[in-house]
Amino acid sequence: MLTIPYGKQQITQADIDAVVAVLTSTNLTQGPKVPEFERAVASFCQANHAIAVNSGTSALHIACLSLGLNQGDIVWTSPFSFVASANCALYCGAKVDFVDVELSSGNMDMKALATKLASAKQINQLPKIIIPVHYAGQPCDLASLYQLSQQYGFKIIEDASHALGACYQDKPIGHGQYSDITIFSFHPVKNITCGEGGMALTQCPEIAKKLRMYSSHGITKTDCVNEIHGDWYYEQQLLGFNYRMTDLQAALGCSQMQRLPEFIARRKAIANRYQKVLPKSIGRLTNDPIGESAHHLFPIQIAANKRKHVFDGMRKAGIIVQLHYINIARQPYYQGLGFDPINYPNTETLSQTSFSLPLYVDLTEAQQDFVVATLLELLADD
Ligand SMILES: Cc1ncc(COP(=O)(O)O)c(C=O)c1O
Repeated sequence: MLTIPYGKQQITQADIDAVVAVLTSTNLTQGPKVPEFERAVASFCQANHAIAVNSGTSALHIACLSLGLNQGDIVWTSPFSFVASANCALYCGAKVDFVDVELSSGNMDMKALATKLASAKQINQLPKIIIPVHYAGQPCDLASLYQLSQQYGFKIIEDASHALGACYQDKPIGHGQYSDITIFSFHPVKNITCGEGGMALTQCPEIAKKLRMYSSHGITKTDCVNEIHGDWYYEQQLLGFNYRMTDLQAALGCSQMQRLPEFIARRKAIANRYQKVLPKSIGRLTNDPIGESAHHLFPIQIAANKRKHVFDGMRKAGIIVQLHYINIARQPYYQGLGFDPINYPNTETLSQTSFSLPLYVDLTEAQQDFVVATLLELLADD
């Protein structure tokens, strides 16, 4: 049976040729393709600095470290996300907490955030960093978040794993006009892929320097504190990691970047078609007019008591729908840390009623029609 996944990469002959060219070259890693890919993404996003790494998770980790996150510090993020959005804080020995999302967008609720910040200030428990997630590719209310950051003194890392190709106030996500660092993921279901990969973007040269060092063992060859005696010289100045991206991955990334505008246009057309053909009784997220979504996911909401029947029926028909996401506070690991998922009621509601319909560049109209017909049939069952 032909299966229709919820998301998948598009690989063309040009992509294959680009990877094979690296495979038959001298440098499989640390060659010219990684900086070329960094320049391509930085230029698309109008950012000054871009540091490629081996996953979005690694990008989140070095982003936290580069902003000085330490033992005892506090990070707040969205509980309606992949676990990596929160884990990055724990990797640094920091504490994590969650801010509930809006039912309408699945993005961090700025009113809930303002209330939580006011309470946290009174007990001296303000976060050092807030990590908003641009859920499904739709930008968060970054201007309000930035205003709160000025008032309360926290830093901002945009988890834009879903949002390469999105815009906010006419600037590409990744530009960072309202944040310190933006990170992307290039996992195969994302808007472009490197197989696995990630990138951290910033406008700040000091942060960029740290991101670069943390991505490669804390080593630098250029900004040495001691005298440079020769070309062999390098210094480890921080405790970093081997999070480097290979040239093989970057070659695929460069090739995919050339089609990013085409990818986003196709994703938008598919999303618009779902909007048109799905009946009003099926819930879906509303797009904030300030932002232009990158249409990474198309989550729908149906009655909680019907979700399992419909989800299982779709999968039985070969349509591999997926839930984005289980409330992170509901994960056994986070429950072990003392989190109670019911403190995030909107996340609970969305987690219990949502799943994402197939949305990827090569999805045909006939496949989309099959998805919709199967969905409506299953919903009509008693
Ligand atoms: C919102 C979000 N954050 C972080 C990540 C982590 O990215 P990666 O899988 O590239 O490590 C993902 C990817 O699944 C994600 O969807």
